[in-house]
Amino acid sequence: MDKNKIIVFDTTLRDGEQSPGASMNTEEKIQIALQLERLGVDVMEAGFAAASAGDFDAINQIAKQINNIRIASLARALEKDIKVAADAIAPAKNRRIHTFIATSSIHMEHKLKMASEEVIKRAVESVKYAKTFVDDVEFSCEDAGRSDIVFLKEICAAVVEAGATTLNLPDTVGFRMPYEIAKMIEEMVKFIGDKAIISVHNHNDLGLAVANTLASIKAGARQVECTINGLGERAGNAALEEIVMTLKTRNDEFAPLYTDIVAKEIYATSRLVASITGIEPQPNKAIVGKNAFAHESGIHQDGVLKCASTYEIIRAEDIGAEKNSLVLGKHSGRHAFKDKLINLGFDLDDSELNEAFIKFKDLCDKKKDIFDDDIRALVSNEIIKIPQIYEVEKLSTSSCNKGHASAAVSIKFNDEIISDAALGNGTADAIFKVIDRISNINGELKDYKVNAVSQGKDALAKITVKVVFEDSNNATIGHGLDIDTMMASAKAYVSALNSYLSMKNR
Ligand code: KIV
Ligand code: ZN
Repeated sequence: MDKNKIIVFDTTLRDGEQSPGASMNTEEKIQIALQLERLGVDVMEAGFAAASAGDFDAINQIAKQINNIRIASLARALEKDIKVAADAIAPAKNRRIHTFIATSSIHMEHKLKMASEEVIKRAVESVKYAKTFVDDVEFSCEDAGRSDIVFLKEICAAVVEAGATTLNLPDTVGFRMPYEIAKMIEEMVKFIGDKAIISVHNHNDLGLAVANTLASIKAGARQVECTINGLGERAGNAALEEIVMTLKTRNDEFAPLYTDIVAKEIYATSRLVASITGIEPQPNKAIVGKNAFAHESGIHQDGVLKCASTYEIIRAEDIGAEKNSLVLGKHSGRHAFKDKLINLGFDLDDSELNEAFIKFKDLCDKKKDIFDDDIRALVSNEIIKIPQIYEVEKLSTSSCNKGHASAAVSIKFNDEIISDAALGNGTADAIFKVIDRISNINGELKDYKVNAVSQGKDALAKITVKVVFEDSNNATIGHGLDIDTMMASAKAYVSALNSYLSMKNR
């Protein structure tokens, strides 16, 4: 093992998905997984297999399609979770089971209601059981940041003896200061030696996740767990792009340590995750925020024009975010369109390219300027998608005062067009009722989110719905994209329905 290499463990699809409102369906997770492969992460935590049938399905599909990255599934320290995780990752060439149990007194006493000896016993049994499926087992001491170091040493020694090859010490609640984390990591690295890789997983509750991760690297951690755009539970996880660009930019501090991340893919990855989850990084977010390379003050602009390094420590092009002056429109040809797709990281076959070009021209008739985000949204929502069992053909709606509305919808199913109409409390409700009637499957709407893609009054609307269909306990996510918000709502609902049916078929 190269002692200078920092292993990048991306958990956008697991901890990142735990961000409120960030749920993704299988197809969307596959798209992100393909982009993470281009980005060059070393390990991809594709989900928590035992959490739901949808999680299992997504991990399993990713395990089949991603060849160059180690695929991990999270599992509680329970036999049933570990077995499901093993089944989900089974098709992957390189796989890892990541099992965890809490080790802080507060968690053991109040949440687990287990004595520390029992926790060690469960951890050891779990690692041994995981080893019956894979060689590569990671063990996490949940809430390590608030755990007693003597106990951490005891449990870590025991799980290493049982076969764990990576020990992750998360600051689960984002409580620690960089110097405190560094002290813990240094002591654990010294204690474990070469028997396992020490990993960190820092949450951002006090805004210190990246600082804590960098301090941990200095102290000897050789795996960092992180997410794109810093997504994650509550205030999120350490942002991959910030860790990677700090290591590069402050080479004077960190050399010879390095990652294998392809920095030029950072911007495309960030935009794809934002476009799929609908969660935009704050404008002043380091590295990938909209303002990260914008110079507003005259003095700064003047300085940058004379010599960029006066106010810039990273260039936009370092992360693949160079200003692309080419805004596509009505008169753009197929060649420019294809170039743009390649530029944005999409790899479409000829028939997908044809379909995308037709949809692009269609959009040009409705919208004057087409921005990169429009194209990303168009391709990720309209081209790379789950099999279209049902497809929205036509929609007409009317609303009157007091909230009552009606909708007539035509849906294509098995090459047949089925039309129906319904009344509802509001237009979206009427649309969803018609779709339920046509498909004969009732859905309960759990969440409905509207986002504008790119700029202008004629911006595309992206609707995200979360629906629980009748015989399922889990919500399915659907996205719809259209210049018309109600049409986008109909498409989103049908996309959730298609996603639910394809998963059922699989
Ligand atoms: O924050 C945490 O402790 C986690 C573990 C499950 C790794 O996400
Ligand atoms: Zn976490």
